[in-house]
Amino acid sequence: MSFLSATLDRVKPSPTIAVSTLAAELKAAGRDVIGLGAGEPDFDTPDHIKAAAKAAIDAGKTKYTAPDGMPELKQAICDKFKRENGLVYTPAQVSVGTGGKQILYNALMATLNPGDEVIIPAPYWVSYPDMVLLAGGEPVVVECPIETGFRMTPEQLEAAITPKTKWLIFNSPSNPTGAGYTREQLKALTDVLMRHPHVWVMTDDMYEHLAYGDFEFCTPTEVEPGLYDRTLTCNGVSKAYAMTGWRIGYAAGPVELIAAMRKIQSQSTSNPCSVSQWAAVEALNGTQDFIAENNKMFVRRRDLVVEMLNAAIGIDCPVPDGAFYVYPSIKGCIGKTTAGGVKIDTDEAFAKALLEEKGVAVVFGSAFGLSPNFRVSYATSDDALKEACTRIQDFCASLV
Ligand SMILES: Cc1ncc(COP(=O)(O)O)c(C=O)c1O
Repeated sequence: MSFLSATLDRVKPSPTIAVSTLAAELKAAGRDVIGLGAGEPDFDTPDHIKAAAKAAIDAGKTKYTAPDGMPELKQAICDKFKRENGLVYTPAQVSVGTGGKQILYNALMATLNPGDEVIIPAPYWVSYPDMVLLAGGEPVVVECPIETGFRMTPEQLEAAITPKTKWLIFNSPSNPTGAGYTREQLKALTDVLMRHPHVWVMTDDMYEHLAYGDFEFCTPTEVEPGLYDRTLTCNGVSKAYAMTGWRIGYAAGPVELIAAMRKIQSQSTSNPCSVSQWAAVEALNGTQDFIAENNKMFVRRRDLVVEMLNAAIGIDCPVPDGAFYVYPSIKGCIGKTTAGGVKIDTDEAFAKALLEEKGVAVVFGSAFGLSPNFRVSYATSDDALKEACTRIQDFCASLV
């Protein structure tokens, strides 16, 4: 009998972290590798946020805090929800964790019993199914193909709901596709949910601020206030504020759920880093102007990547609404063979050969539950993106 928990047999390590690690190892070994795998902005945390953290250290704000966040941060989060989403929450309805990841994990651990189902539209952020499995639940994956813009239709949602459904995990704009739901598209889904009062909504709004062009972000309870009592609205400072390493995520929802999440956190990691919490207070309360500036750069990069990938033979790359990812289809490459003699029968084979033969690291689509595709993170320099897309074009042109 293995010494390790049987639960571990149900999950796999994060494939996105695996790709970034492999790319870093190849680079360290002297290979010319361009990494398009990382899910984080390439720019630094803004200075005023760093200054708030330094001031917190100098003022000795370096002790334990309340397990699920200090009052000043909880208030800043309530103010953010009111100001940006028109949602009224009290501090008792707010939970702060060590990254958005811990918040989602706490919520699943706090609510899932064996056999409970969680609906996850695919392509999905890699951690959702494995977190559900770790918490003892059953992921119910609903494939949302490129033809419907990678969005779940109300019919698909209706068909996926059973008496065992506990949660729908909703993510717009999405990692890995960048697809966002308009207010009308979201209303069509919330109408279905209103007919099934036992289903709760875990909305992962991590990419809220990274929304481009005409696309306007909206969150389920904003669109359907009737869902307020069974929605956990999750968010964080990692992406829009370039604070991935600070590890602060948060959520707001019903008091009973928040208390259950606090219980788990108090017996696992205790509080999120006190200094990071002070940085997050400044991120939420301070100027938001730099976000629009950064978004101009993201739009330029998105357009560059979409255009160059669509010029590659066999690739079809839709234009995303937000986040910093594109999720092109490689249907036109399947069945071909690379110059190095590798048969491209899956997107995993495509990504592996692209890394080995051209030194470009992308994450294969099967990691996100929808194939044959790959994900490019365009949160890197224009020069690196141009070079990487040129190599992808060459790679596709060389397939026979
Ligand atoms: C959709 C989505 N949700 C949550 C997270 C987790 O964010 P954090 O770094 O705050 O844990 C990520 C990070 O990649 C993400 O892409």
